[in-house]
Amino acid sequence: MVKGSQKIRGLRGKKQNPGQTEEKPPIVNSPNVKLSNVKSPIEKPPIVNSPIVKSDDQWSEAFGHQPVLLTESIEALAIKPDGFYVDATLGGGGHSRAILAALGHKGRLLAIDVDPEPLAWAQKWAQGDSRLILKRLNFRDLVAFLEREGLGAADGILADLGVSLRQLTDSSRGLSFAADGPLDMRLDPESNLKAMEIVNHWVENELKTIFWRLGEERAAGRLAHQIVELREKEPFTSTAALAELARRSLFRPGPPPRIHPATRMFMALRMAVNHEIESLSKFLSDIRLGLKPGGRLVVISFHSLEDRLVKQALRGSGEEQDSSELFIDPSSLKRPPERNTPWRLHRKKVIRPSKEELALNPRARSAKLRWAEAM
Ligand SMILES: C[S@@+](CC[C@H](N)C(=O)[O-])C[C@H]1O[C@@H](n2cnc3c(N)ncnc32)[C@H](O)[C@@H]1O
Repeated sequence: MVKGSQKIRGLRGKKQNPGQTEEKPPIVNSPNVKLSNVKSPIEKPPIVNSPIVKSDDQWSEAFGHQPVLLTESIEALAIKPDGFYVDATLGGGGHSRAILAALGHKGRLLAIDVDPEPLAWAQKWAQGDSRLILKRLNFRDLVAFLEREGLGAADGILADLGVSLRQLTDSSRGLSFAADGPLDMRLDPESNLKAMEIVNHWVENELKTIFWRLGEERAAGRLAHQIVELREKEPFTSTAALAELARRSLFRPGPPPRIHPATRMFMALRMAVNHEIESLSKFLSDIRLGLKPGGRLVVISFHSLEDRLVKQALRGSGEEQDSSELFIDPSSLKRPPERNTPWRLHRKKVIRPSKEELALNPRARSAKLRWAEAM
């Protein structure tokens, strides 16, 4: 566990030397690029400081993911041109590009992702912009990284949770039931746990728990039972086989269901494979230490459990959330707000996508943005 006072000393105690940070080369850690000695081909970065936030930029389109709540998140970050910002979930870089557009030439952006692909992609769109630091990193380790690299605390941190549409539609990653692929689902290709391990080896009750807690699947017990029965005859290796099991188990006569019957089970498996609740809990409990006083934390979530964690952390007690992943007691999420919070929560309850955004990008419908200022 992170020792709070040590971290505060580590981050805040470091004297900020503006000259020093500017001379640092970008830290790039992608499959194609070594971490050290990356020199920017651009000697002097262009001074870009535009308030215009475009959600239809061609890089996002080419990557296959439209940034969600873009204008709202950039407004919430209240970007200072010379500030230091972190995009904790780089993805297609839609938010990162908007942050860079609002920064001046002395500003800096650290953009991280667990998946190497967005980092390799960012090498292309960033075109050597020396204000951008790229790093393959899980956001649960962000505060430790800021301290270790001497980057200091940030003026703003954005986390746009979940997966990008590109990851979802790449059948080789096995995140979707829409096309057949291996039962993998890892966002970090170096992690050990694949969905097939869970589906073929976890006991029935554990399967039921993840489908129920993470997928909010009412037929969790039935699905878990059928998986255990069928895997004895033949282990599951493909997304199509698992999707077919859900389709048959949850079949009801009448009009076709609004969403595919496998939707919730797949989401639950993805969240379990990638320890998403664990990582978010750790991130939320540490992150105050990664922000300057007055710095902004902006979180976009797509899942009610995640949103409850964010809401609780920002109203919070300042104590570490029990992050034992699936076994969070739901009643603990309903604790009343406590007074010793390190955050000044943005008064408006939650920010949702506008009608205009939803008309252009219906996938944004479950997005919720919350932001708070570090005290
Ligand atoms: C919704 S996408 C971000 C999209 C991005 N904001 C954009 O507009 O293009 C979420 C990204 O976060 C990454 N991610 C998920 N969990 C993460 C974690 N614990 N640490 C770092 N990155 C994570 C995923 O790999 C994915 O690329």
